[in-house]
Amino acid sequence: MIKPVNYLSKVYGIKNGWSLEVYEREVQGYQAARKALRMTPAQVVDEAKKMNIRGRGGAGFPMGIKWSFMKPHPTKPAYLVINADEGEPGTHKDRTLMEWNPHAVVEGCIIGCYGIGAHVAYIYVRDELHLSKERLWGAIKEAKAKGYLGKNPFGTDYPVEVYVHTGAGAYICGEETSLLNSLEGRRGEPRLKPPFPAQAGAFGCPTTVNNLETIAMVPAALLMGGDAYSQLSALHHLRDGGSRLYGINGHVKNPKVVELAVGVTLRELIYDIGGGVTGDRPLLAVIPGGSSTPVLRADEVVNAPDEKAPLHPWHGQSVLDVPLGVDTMRGLGTMLGTCCATVLAEGTCPVLAMENLMQFYRHESCGQCTPCREGGAWLFRTVTKILDNKANMQELDNLHDIANNIMGNTICAFGEGTAMPALGFLQKFRKDFEAYVRGERTRATATLIPGVS
Ligand code: NAI
Ligand code: SF4
Repeated sequence: MIKPVNYLSKVYGIKNGWSLEVYEREVQGYQAARKALRMTPAQVVDEAKKMNIRGRGGAGFPMGIKWSFMKPHPTKPAYLVINADEGEPGTHKDRTLMEWNPHAVVEGCIIGCYGIGAHVAYIYVRDELHLSKERLWGAIKEAKAKGYLGKNPFGTDYPVEVYVHTGAGAYICGEETSLLNSLEGRRGEPRLKPPFPAQAGAFGCPTTVNNLETIAMVPAALLMGGDAYSQLSALHHLRDGGSRLYGINGHVKNPKVVELAVGVTLRELIYDIGGGVTGDRPLLAVIPGGSSTPVLRADEVVNAPDEKAPLHPWHGQSVLDVPLGVDTMRGLGTMLGTCCATVLAEGTCPVLAMENLMQFYRHESCGQCTPCREGGAWLFRTVTKILDNKANMQELDNLHDIANNIMGNTICAFGEGTAMPALGFLQKFRKDFEAYVRGERTRATATLIPGVS
């Protein structure tokens, strides 16, 4: 069900929409921070739990529960770290927020810091996003000048400072522990978990890492009240509350980022929001939420994953008609991820699409774990061989083995982020792979963009 909302996007497109003046005038800017600072930190966390905001970075972990993991340490300070290292292919929602609504991020940081007992927030921004950094620094400066940040925000005795930290252009630094290493000036390599950042995060101190959209959503949700905000969502009963930024890109007529209540379906996103498939072609497949999420075929029907698993509530329906939610997508054997869908029109070569992704993952692996470092490279080399008509059927099976041997055998989720999309393409488009092995197709005629030679 499409329910447009504009808590975050109301200031998008307004003249100087990123300024404090517009933020205060249009969306009651900084009223939520004032409200939070009159509550106790425990009340703020309780309210955050009621919002049922599932982390918007991709994992979908409940934000309020994450905040509740933070326990005061006798000697160590607590930190809030905001992950704005948006690098997932096909995902560009956080960037719009930083450019257009940086004050929502700063206000969210004040509320988040207060709730978890931190006095400092770091916003780790992807290096390439120069305008985003500029707008965030501008917002911090404006908020400080008004007395909303610093030693006595809004006249209280709860100091809060917010800093922008520039990333170094590596995809893996979007993984939270790699990001923390990078923030500390170390090499951007993931750490083993546990300990989770809530126990030992930035500089070894208790830390909450939240995605940028997650924290930016907090002011509006707090002003409205956690329960009311959660109930905006069609999936409120699954504790997947509120609203979110949806992205639609790839082969659609109108690629864009829109703010909607949670629960829109892929069909609505592609046809009603995205204007339909480019050139009015039939739909081949959709990657639901960034390249790490396994592809869904347009002709797929929802099945129970196995006999023991409970029947999916949308059993028997097209996957395109299932509301996009964290748990509903897991039930389809894929993930909601960043909720920025990539559309593949009929005519796209799925083998070429997989090669394209494997090239990316091979390049971005940090190289610490053998299954990821070697497995990713092996996946890329083998799919390249298939496209060049040089592989045999055994090598097609090898691809499954390699991908399955990466799963569960690595330090961070990047390994699975490589293996899962590979397995998705292999399982759902087996005939396309076989056609290359049999020499019925060649790379010369394969395309990623149908209609363009
Ligand atoms: P995860 O499921 O391991 O963790 C999610 C969050 O919950 C983390 O902050 C973690 O510290 C916390 N957590 C989980 N269990 C906990 C426990 N028992 N105690 C304390 N804290 C706990 O997932 P991860 O590795 O953080 O993220 C993977 C996701 O990131 C993938 O789903 C992928 O879609 C997404 N991703 C997003 C990108 C982007 O540009 N937005 C880029 C790459 C991946
Ligand atoms: Fe590095 Fe890959 Fe291991 Fe993650 S899974 S730590 S990216 S080698």
